[in-house]
Amino acid sequence: MNQKLRVIYVSAEVAPYAKSGELADVACSLPKYLSYLGMEVSIFMPKYRNPEIESLPKEMLVSNLLVPLGEKKVKARVFKSEHGKYDIYLIDNPKYFWRENIYGTGKGEYLDNDERFIFFSRAILEFLVKTKLHTDIIHCNSWHTALIPVFLKTHYSHKSQFKKVSTVLTLHNVAYQGEFPPETLVLTGLSWDYFCPEQLSLGGKFNFLKAGVIFSDVLNTVSSSYKREILTEKYGFGLEKILKSRKDVFFSIRNGVDYEIWNPETDSFIAANYSPPDLKGKKKCKRDLIKEFGLSLNVKTPIVGIVSYMTSHKGFDILLEAMDELMEMDLGFVMLGQGDEKYENSFSNFQRRFSRKMAVKFNMNPALAHKIAAGADIFLIPSLYEPCGLNQLYSFRYATVPVVRATGGLEETVTPFNTRTLKGNGFVFKEYSSKAMVKALKKVLVYYKKPQIWQKILMAGFQENFSWENAAKRYARLYHNALKIKRGG
Ligand code: GLC
Repeated sequence: MNQKLRVIYVSAEVAPYAKSGELADVACSLPKYLSYLGMEVSIFMPKYRNPEIESLPKEMLVSNLLVPLGEKKVKARVFKSEHGKYDIYLIDNPKYFWRENIYGTGKGEYLDNDERFIFFSRAILEFLVKTKLHTDIIHCNSWHTALIPVFLKTHYSHKSQFKKVSTVLTLHNVAYQGEFPPETLVLTGLSWDYFCPEQLSLGGKFNFLKAGVIFSDVLNTVSSSYKREILTEKYGFGLEKILKSRKDVFFSIRNGVDYEIWNPETDSFIAANYSPPDLKGKKKCKRDLIKEFGLSLNVKTPIVGIVSYMTSHKGFDILLEAMDELMEMDLGFVMLGQGDEKYENSFSNFQRRFSRKMAVKFNMNPALAHKIAAGADIFLIPSLYEPCGLNQLYSFRYATVPVVRATGGLEETVTPFNTRTLKGNGFVFKEYSSKAMVKALKKVLVYYKKPQIWQKILMAGFQENFSWENAAKRYARLYHNALKIKRGG
């Protein structure tokens, strides 16, 4: 029954073409696994200007799509790149998307992000109208694309081709809602009647994510713990009540891992392939990581790795607070990230002071992310909240032991090592504080020095299976549910 389902999967970022966080990994892999289930999947993303996108084989399908934006009509070009079982459609407008980054710089977000993503959303719908591409599901992700369900139920409600189309909105992180001044409404072409607390506004702002929560047919988030969390005031960022009001259509599906990409046996980014329990190759990867980051470390010294967007909710406050103490411990430290300028500056300072044992690189280079997964011994994720988290799952497969704070998807996937039963696949700390984090790391270092126990922990992680295959099947069920809901089932 999946055969006929056509899914339009919409995301502002898709790895490896454009990546700021883990959303890009999801948007790269889920569509592929959906296509393995027999669905016809088309990914839609902006055509950013970078070598990865430039080198994609593609054809221009439409050279002059006129996209309504307020009073104006703005031109878009649409390209298509075929990838066997699925296609990638690229929405092109140099003014909006030929920029250095996806959302902004270390100094802040681009000031016209409202206009950029309204344009992107409407361009997709205009393209579907123009080409009459058969569609069953439009799957939107995060605030950037959350207005698509709004537009479908307003501007496009009379179009027969959309009558049976169901929309799914995935909430990857409700801390980011796309909040803009009321005047942004003008760009949508919607009447001011919509600007009310029941529909598009929240706290006096035009809130894209909230609008999507109200207008989409079905909602989901990326772990059941995070779903529970965001129904509370502490983690809901003001959306908790609205989410509760939609609880009948609010689900959770935990993200999966693409083991075609994240597999130390076949990974072409790393210095040597390996397959636990044989870790000879991992040792080579560790040497390579030490060299790549210019450290002077003995290969026996445990290396702590971090790959993260650098922002406070990823735990960078407690990390900074703990840095002096960490640097006194017998460990090496490598970090890959991008984000708030203040963290980039502070960590650069630490690097200057402790260049023998710690190094940071500020770009989301995929090869380096793989090198850290393979070459590090310990992977640290100290997040204040974490909707799903993928790096702990990658770490498992690479025999790298995760140390995480107990929140969201981290709590759900990392089973704390129990010193009595010797069971568990990682280390977990509860309190969000540098003290609790340092305490956990000190405990980890004790067990790192006990090779037999260490091997047991990393094998427990290695044997986990978080494949997208299972998660994609859950999405298939979600889509069928969404269609039933839409078609009056
Ligand atoms: C966001 C969340 C992260 C999740 C990812 C993909 O980046 O912060 O926890 O894994 O989206 O869903």
